[in-house]
Amino acid sequence: MLCIKNGRIITATDDYVADVLIEGETITAIGKNLTTPAGAEVIDAEGKYVMPGFIDPHVHIYLPFMGTYAKDDYDSASRAALVGGTTTLIEMCCPSRGEDPLKAYQLWKSKAEGLSACDFTFHMGVSRFDADTSAKLREIVADGIASFKVFLAYKNFFGVNDAELFETLKLAKELGVIVTAHCENETLVAELQQQLLAAGKVGPEWHEPSRPRQVEAEGVQHLMTFAELTGTAVYIVHTSCHAAVKAALAARQRGVRVWIETVIPYLVLDDTYAQRPDFEGAKFVMSPPIRAAEEQPHLWNALRTRDISTVATDHAPFDFHGQKEMGRGDFTKIPNGIPTVEDRVNLLYTHGVATGKIDLNTFVDAASTQAAKLFGLFPRKGTIAVGSDADIVVYDPNYRGVLSAATHSMATDYSAFEGWPIIGRPDVVTVRGKVQVRSGKFVGALGHGQFLRRQASH
Ligand code: URP
Ligand code: ZN
Ligand code: ZN
Repeated sequence: MLCIKNGRIITATDDYVADVLIEGETITAIGKNLTTPAGAEVIDAEGKYVMPGFIDPHVHIYLPFMGTYAKDDYDSASRAALVGGTTTLIEMCCPSRGEDPLKAYQLWKSKAEGLSACDFTFHMGVSRFDADTSAKLREIVADGIASFKVFLAYKNFFGVNDAELFETLKLAKELGVIVTAHCENETLVAELQQQLLAAGKVGPEWHEPSRPRQVEAEGVQHLMTFAELTGTAVYIVHTSCHAAVKAALAARQRGVRVWIETVIPYLVLDDTYAQRPDFEGAKFVMSPPIRAAEEQPHLWNALRTRDISTVATDHAPFDFHGQKEMGRGDFTKIPNGIPTVEDRVNLLYTHGVATGKIDLNTFVDAASTQAAKLFGLFPRKGTIAVGSDADIVVYDPNYRGVLSAATHSMATDYSAFEGWPIIGRPDVVTVRGKVQVRSGKFVGALGHGQFLRRQASH
């Protein structure tokens, strides 16, 4: 039993001081001056925020991609997530076109089960739609998966063609599944890549020009047409720019059921990072690319107005040495992705809340509650309420620290935020009533994390 005393409870809608009582895995009482039951551990949260465990709705942990494998496993990734305040991970299960979806699903699940320190579930990637696919996807949904993932990018690897996209969306609509989508026009990307390489433009700084904003906005527009025709609920992952947000909002105005995610790198980094000399820019190569700084105010504003629903990471960790280096002399071979699962919440607080760009309720909404609501986890996750899972972050706004690869828990050999100061950090983190982080350090147990069964309801 745990009693978290005198903290300032912040949810997506509320802000008040109270005690929280946890019995077993669940929040059983919230109120002022609760009597602490005999034997309960007391956590003093005076001067701190008590927030629902954060949910990262877009991570890659097991990821065979671009000729290599992402660096983390559930040991490093779930510890990193928890130290950073994230208590639930939604991982992209990403089979390649040739892979059997059911076998892939079991494989991805087996990587997490018994090892993860935080709770987890998956968006089921659909990279091909043939005669058997529907039955297999139905089986996966029956196992508690309530969301699919499609890529309108990465031609011949993860990417679906238009007929497959249409079939996937129709099935999703029938099952009440929401479809998450990576939106870029893959043909244009392939053409632009070849054009740039042929002109001798081979460094990481050419990654962004090979996938410009129009290519992303066109991908969004493309998905919107399909979603409009099928009526399926869709969620655009890693939205990097105003043009893409505008295309989605215009569709929402027409009645398309669309939600928008951005990811922390787009909010705090800009294209000058990928332009760093001596191939260092490769550390900042992800897709869609990190844009010009002028995009950031648009994204923060859309977050503030809640037109953007969620801030995820798109955690896709590759070492600089040996992995990013595969793309020296050809930017199209740099494994795409940035390690961020540990830093999302601290960066969002430091650059969003502490600067006044967003308020505390929006912070919780974007980093926890909206993901829970969209992906079938609410109110079990995403809020602090009697009956909810006791996933709690006691956040210390007075902490001051610095991000660094030397101290992070992620497995990569670099941090994209090396030397960046942070304001505040998760002090205590619980997962279903168990203290997994204390004084900002992982003190818990690997294997405590559970697979979360979800009900498709869109
Ligand atoms: O660059 C990225 N985003 N890497 C991970 C794969 C994906 O597209 O989400
Ligand atoms: Zn993607
Ligand atoms: Zn991703």
